[in-house]
Amino acid sequence: MNFNVLLGLQWGDEGKGKIVDVFASRYDVVARFQGGPNAGHSLEFDNVKHILHNIPSGVFHKNIQNIIGNGVVLDPVIFRQEIEELKEKGININSNLFISRKAHLILPSHRILDAASEAAKGKSKIGSTLKGIGPTYMDKTGRNGLRVGDIEADDFREKYRFLKNKHRTLLAQYDFQYDLEEKEQEWFEAIETLREFAFVDSEHTINELMLQGKSVLAEGAQGTLLDIDFGSYPYVTSSNTVCAGACIGLGVSPKNVGEVYGVFKAYCTRVGSGPFPTELSNSHGEKLQKQGNEYGATTGRPRRCGWLDLPALKYAIMLNGVTRLIMTKADVLSDFDHLKICTAYKMKDGSTISHFPYNQYDIAEPIYKEMPGWSEDISQIKSFGHLPEAFKQYSRFIEEQTGVPVHIISTGPKRNSLIEID
Ligand code: GDP
Ligand code: IMO
Ligand code: MG
Repeated sequence: MNFNVLLGLQWGDEGKGKIVDVFASRYDVVARFQGGPNAGHSLEFDNVKHILHNIPSGVFHKNIQNIIGNGVVLDPVIFRQEIEELKEKGININSNLFISRKAHLILPSHRILDAASEAAKGKSKIGSTLKGIGPTYMDKTGRNGLRVGDIEADDFREKYRFLKNKHRTLLAQYDFQYDLEEKEQEWFEAIETLREFAFVDSEHTINELMLQGKSVLAEGAQGTLLDIDFGSYPYVTSSNTVCAGACIGLGVSPKNVGEVYGVFKAYCTRVGSGPFPTELSNSHGEKLQKQGNEYGATTGRPRRCGWLDLPALKYAIMLNGVTRLIMTKADVLSDFDHLKICTAYKMKDGSTISHFPYNQYDIAEPIYKEMPGWSEDISQIKSFGHLPEAFKQYSRFIEEQTGVPVHIISTGPKRNSLIEID
């Protein structure tokens, strides 16, 4: 099979960007299929850290074609910033980035609507990245959206005005101050940058490339537990982050899906609001945050931290049909006396369950298996055999419980901090 999918199995920030960058040299095409600039994918090599939002994580490899698929929502302003930052680093991707005409555009008024909606929700806010994701997908499903292909139409400005005026009407319902004029000018300037790239019918592009025998890696954004259908609704993002979303978001038939790489952190983190059964509000949580440098790549917000949650992981593996697991941030777990893995939940009604429940706020407390920790720094280790015995035990327990092999263990943010297991 030459269409493989790589996605997150938790609440995002699992380290997808790093792993896509590692894998990219083995593929001809890297394609984003959903989400937008709410994503922050970090890549680190040659002592430089790069953070990508709209742009696929294959761009640092010269011979790879990168595609922004139809399922993505694109903010021209953030896109332009990314392009400029890459140019400053001597990387020009004008010839190897293709953008789907069917991808929807994030307007400045989408971002304002996002902010107004969150402000109105008060304490029950989603904790959105405020990039306009929800309002843009609302316009997509409401059949009001503006797409990249519209930029090529003569009546683009008219279409823009029509949608903006609709947003103004909506905004009148909120007690929210905003200034659109300046943002609009910046947006239209950024549209000119977008025009420098090839707009394509990416479903044809991808399928034709696959027919020619080229291999495609689909790069997920966010994580399975933020999926609009299967995540901890309403504390989710507005797209399908699961494997099926890769088919929809790129126009590839499900029968073409080969490997499904499920990326998960060796523990759990979550940024934004919503249930988090294994969250630690104690020194262990603080230690994970400190050792893992857990701050959002897009918003800089501190990430909430907790122990690994197996019922949630198994749920994600089931939904995605994961064939290979990739465990990241394994190095962060060094220097704990003991570690815990959640294997089931004690519910508020007194029952015990081992599946991820409809309402995670019904969980009274997680049931943990305690495991020995290790003190060694594992960041320089290059083979599974050299890892501490306690780590091997931790990893094998996850494999036994999930029934899926751990294919890669990531031991640091850099491209080469990696153990690949056959
Ligand atoms: P993504 O959104 O899934 O691409 O993940 P992010 O880039 O938002 O967050 C992952 C963070 O962990 C980034 O700062 C990465 O540089 C870093 N990272 C990735 N893999 C590892 C790892 O194995 N160990 C450590 N210590 N950091 C890692
Ligand atoms: P990557 O691709 C972590 C979270 C937000 C919020 C919720 C909804 O880097 O893993 P949205 O902006 O979509 O309206 O926010 O989803 N969220 C992420 N959390 N990583 C991400 O992306 C995220 N994208 C959105 O914090 O809770
Ligand atoms: Mg991220």
